[in-house]
Amino acid sequence: MTTRIAVLASGRGSNLQAILQAIADGTLDAEVVGVFSDKPNAPALKQVTPERRWSARPSAFPDRAAYETVLSDAVAAASPDWIVCAGYMRILGDAFIARFRGRLLNIHPSLLPKYRGLHTHARALEAGDAEHGASVHFVIPELDAGSVIAQVRVPTLAGDTPETLAARLLPREHALLLAVLRLAAAGQLAEQGDVTRCHGQPLLNPLSLDSADRLVS
Ligand code: GAR
Repeated sequence: MTTRIAVLASGRGSNLQAILQAIADGTLDAEVVGVFSDKPNAPALKQVTPERRWSARPSAFPDRAAYETVLSDAVAAASPDWIVCAGYMRILGDAFIARFRGRLLNIHPSLLPKYRGLHTHARALEAGDAEHGASVHFVIPELDAGSVIAQVRVPTLAGDTPETLAARLLPREHALLLAVLRLAAAGQLAEQGDVTRCHGQPLLNPLSLDSADRLVS
């Protein structure tokens, strides 16, 4: 059966676009059943038909819990198999995470556990790191701290700015996210407690995306 994916996005939506393109190309057996945003003007929303868009301003609700109750009901109504945070720039609350735990993924632009949170490209450059990268991980209540499924690495180059580094990383991020979603769509990815299982085996270290876009141990 075609895997149902819900996407949470706050901005540009290039990761969402990569997912939609892979589906259109027949390289990802999935369907985007909804795009959910905390920013009603997010370009990401425009990439799907109006019936598949949902957005609400958190400031219109009395508190975060109230906003997230409505968000999580909307996500649940789309009956997704997997929920992907692809540039969703709000911290998710415990109730939302508990409701979808085990099928909630995030892509983060750093080699976790390095640089949780914001400004990851600038922080990698400030630290003088020779390489930078992105991680796809299961979401748990602690920010950017869930079990890392897979990572991709790019070199930092002399003269890099946060912008040039981000631009070098972005297409590799897309490839990474797609590779993990193919694994998920094939029923080969699971989170059991704190353990990630890949092809039924516990994953002791994150997988790496190689230059041929394969996930390798
Ligand atoms: C991506 O680089 C993603 O890794 C990052 O936001 C960007 C969204 O781009 N996510 C985070 O920083 C999450 N903490 P997109 O809207 O073009 O997919």
